[in-house]
Amino acid sequence: MDKLTNFDLVLFGATGDLAMRKLLPGLYQAHAAGLLHPEGRILGVSRSAFDRAAFVEKVEKDSKIHIKQNLDGQTWTSFVARIDYLSLDVTRAQDFAALAEKVKARPQTDNVVVYLSTAPKFFAAACRSLAEVGLNGENVRLVLEKPLGTDLASNRAINRDVAQYFQENRIYRIDHYLGKESLQNLLPLRFANPFFEPVWHRDCIRSVQITIAEELGVEERGEFYDATGALRDMVQNHMMQMLCFVAMERPKSLSADDVRDEKLKVVQALRIMDQAEVGRKVVRGQYTAAAGKKGYIEEPRVAADSQTETYVAIEAAVDNPRWSGVPFYLRTGKRMAAKTAEIVVNFKADSDGLFGKTPARIAISLQPQEEIRVKLWVKETGSGLNAVPAEMVLNLADSLPGRRADAYELLLCEVIAGRLNLFNRRDELEAAWAWVMPILDNWAASDVLPHGYPAGSWGPEAARALLAANGDAWAEEQE
Ligand code: BG6
Repeated sequence: MDKLTNFDLVLFGATGDLAMRKLLPGLYQAHAAGLLHPEGRILGVSRSAFDRAAFVEKVEKDSKIHIKQNLDGQTWTSFVARIDYLSLDVTRAQDFAALAEKVKARPQTDNVVVYLSTAPKFFAAACRSLAEVGLNGENVRLVLEKPLGTDLASNRAINRDVAQYFQENRIYRIDHYLGKESLQNLLPLRFANPFFEPVWHRDCIRSVQITIAEELGVEERGEFYDATGALRDMVQNHMMQMLCFVAMERPKSLSADDVRDEKLKVVQALRIMDQAEVGRKVVRGQYTAAAGKKGYIEEPRVAADSQTETYVAIEAAVDNPRWSGVPFYLRTGKRMAAKTAEIVVNFKADSDGLFGKTPARIAISLQPQEEIRVKLWVKETGSGLNAVPAEMVLNLADSLPGRRADAYELLLCEVIAGRLNLFNRRDELEAAWAWVMPILDNWAASDVLPHGYPAGSWGPEAARALLAANGDAWAEEQE
């Protein structure tokens, strides 16, 4: 294990939902596993006029319940001893002097991690004030929580504002999908096993499907979600990461920038759609009441005439020599039939029809199971040479020893250690927004309602038709 670095983690938005549900539980797990420097400190910052004791009480009440493993009294007490709190208004520059004082009171700190888990409209003011009190030096790392904007222009504005005070190599843009082991696993899978490379190509692959389906609806997040929709919430970020890892070329090295350079090339190779193509290749859906579940527009804090999509399916094209002509089908939705995040690579059928079967495929599943399933054709037992499908399953959690860390825990440890590999660079995010923009523009200008789909189903009929037009079918409908 690398030497642990002594750190001060300054957590803006410390009383917020993400901090309570994910960040503090993630830090607790890292603490319990001995992955944090014994003197490392967590400094919660928010506007709430708490003192340390009141903040700790809130953490006890609202965060502890999200800790599912390794919870014991003594470990909890030693974790809480790391926590301090400062009440600060991010829009009041004068409040930052007290922050600087607290941080600088611990000169033994190797690095300071400033995590902005706040609305992005506060990023610029926070960065300016941090710089004014000298908290943007060489040893300060800045973590930016999504959403990083709502379109290309706002994303660029955030990046530009932040860049005035922090160098790019000290900015950690979070996408928690990059913290999922089975997504990262695609790199060794593809590039350490020599038999993958020759077939990972348009000559052998017919299509790639990427699905993130959720059973939950919008729950308590109606207000945020209604202004956001599935395209911004999931496609532009999480699905794009999955696509990059499947489609990227072999990086020169595993350094952060070599890997990120290759991801950027994939995003830049995505064909930008014109308005007619958006009409043909993008399906937006919205769930309707079914199976005892409310429809989207009946959810709390959602407009009764909302056109926000809770589902989107896209036939994307990656215009480069490896992928030209291979459709990448992306889909994500709330209130679908199952919770799953999965990549399915469908191979071409044997070209001479010797066995005349539907193609083999590889499914790489991120959740609910972390597994790789390879569908192969094998000889049916008995006489003759009839081929039947069989599946080879590698369950990563069962096969590999060790605890599987939650994505946020893993990413927090990466920031503290100063490894940028699992964080997004500015150019990649801007390219991803550029690709999404024609879709957003098309929907904004259209008065066509999203396709309805019953809660608990696999999405609208139009998404099935999208693939059927190419003679393809979504994974759950394949043989
Ligand atoms: C978040 C989205 O980024 O990802 C949520 O804002 C979504 O709407 C969540 O539910 C899905 O993450 P996971 O890890 O549960 O697949």
